[in-house]
Amino acid sequence: MLSSRIQKIKPSATLAINAKAIELIKQGKDILKFGTGEPDFDTPQNIKDAAKRAIDQGFTKYTAATGIPELKEAVIQKLKRDNHIEAKTENVLITNGGKQALFNLFMTLLNPGDEVLIPSPYWVSYSDIVAVCEGSSKFIDTRSNHFKLTAKMVEEAITPTSKILILNSPSNPTGMMIEKEELEKIAEIALKNNLYLISDEVYEYFCYDGKTHFSIGSLPELSELVFTVNAVSKTYAMTGWRVGYIVGPEIIIKKMGYLQSHSTSNPCSIAQKAALEALTGPQDSIQIMAREFLKRRNFVFEAMNQIPGFQLQKPEGAFYAFPDISGCFNGQMRNSFDFTEFLLEKAGVAVVPWGAFGEPGKNHIRFSYATSMQDIEEGIERIKSIL
Ligand SMILES: Cc1ncc(COP(=O)(O)O)c(C=O)c1O
Repeated sequence: MLSSRIQKIKPSATLAINAKAIELIKQGKDILKFGTGEPDFDTPQNIKDAAKRAIDQGFTKYTAATGIPELKEAVIQKLKRDNHIEAKTENVLITNGGKQALFNLFMTLLNPGDEVLIPSPYWVSYSDIVAVCEGSSKFIDTRSNHFKLTAKMVEEAITPTSKILILNSPSNPTGMMIEKEELEKIAEIALKNNLYLISDEVYEYFCYDGKTHFSIGSLPELSELVFTVNAVSKTYAMTGWRVGYIVGPEIIIKKMGYLQSHSTSNPCSIAQKAALEALTGPQDSIQIMAREFLKRRNFVFEAMNQIPGFQLQKPEGAFYAFPDISGCFNGQMRNSFDFTEFLLEKAGVAVVPWGAFGEPGKNHIRFSYATSMQDIEEGIERIKSIL
């Protein structure tokens, strides 16, 4: 009855634990949630006001399927200013969140069996989107270098059917980054092997300890091979508004636009106006969030390493801690899933188990610190008290 394509998608490993958390909350239990991948901040007022204005001015109809020209122009200016990427309107597609940018791209580039190289641990959706687009995921185990991808790892993983490599720095779920020098070496490999690169930069502004994000799309020699994916979702606390964008070679962006025109059409007209204000209005909300995440990162790093059985390497960016919790395993609690269930039932603490992030993360859980400091302090106390 079902297509073979859809049967390749697995239910999200986070769903089971989330469903259980919701069930417990319904029963009146006090559950602290550290599973979500979104800032706990409100969308800034100037952005909300822009959306209200759009409604009042009747900007409520279809727009160009690929996005409004002024938003594309704002993306171009932002890329020039912050990422040193040169782009023209023809290189930009506005999408329904970063996720649709990735989906459109895989649909446009992949033939059955084409290989996508995914550094692992990885964000759960990559491999499922590849599967539904009939590509084949090949995971690159990054454990040997503290979850930081190296050019050597890419070189060793590449095969004649490798078509795309995904880069995600800072990373969800590990919080680790790939340094500029390593990215430059990866760029050489991509050029030599005609490998497309997808640089998923949704956490670009959340980098700590003086580390700076480098956009591989700024290397001019790669202009026919790199796609830079981003969204207003995390940067401006706008996860629900669903606006993202992708920038890359004109001919492929154009085909992605055709696909979008026959599927979702334009991203919401009102949300596009809000995203325009986000990119062109005051930018101070980003620094406010980044400073707060840094404070929380520092606290979580110290506090988690004092929990018996926990080992947390310092996250360099994003807003996730990815501790190794194998020191807590025993006869009854044999893996990350058991541990996650135990935390939820005994401590009322919801985190994400490794299953969402690939085999190399199997001794880990993901704990999002995009929650209030008060909840974080209490959550960690509760974990300590049951171990
Ligand atoms: C690494 C990564 N890329 C892309 C996305 C998608 O973001 P959006 O909500 O804009 O679709 C997420 C969201 O969690 C993410 O973590």
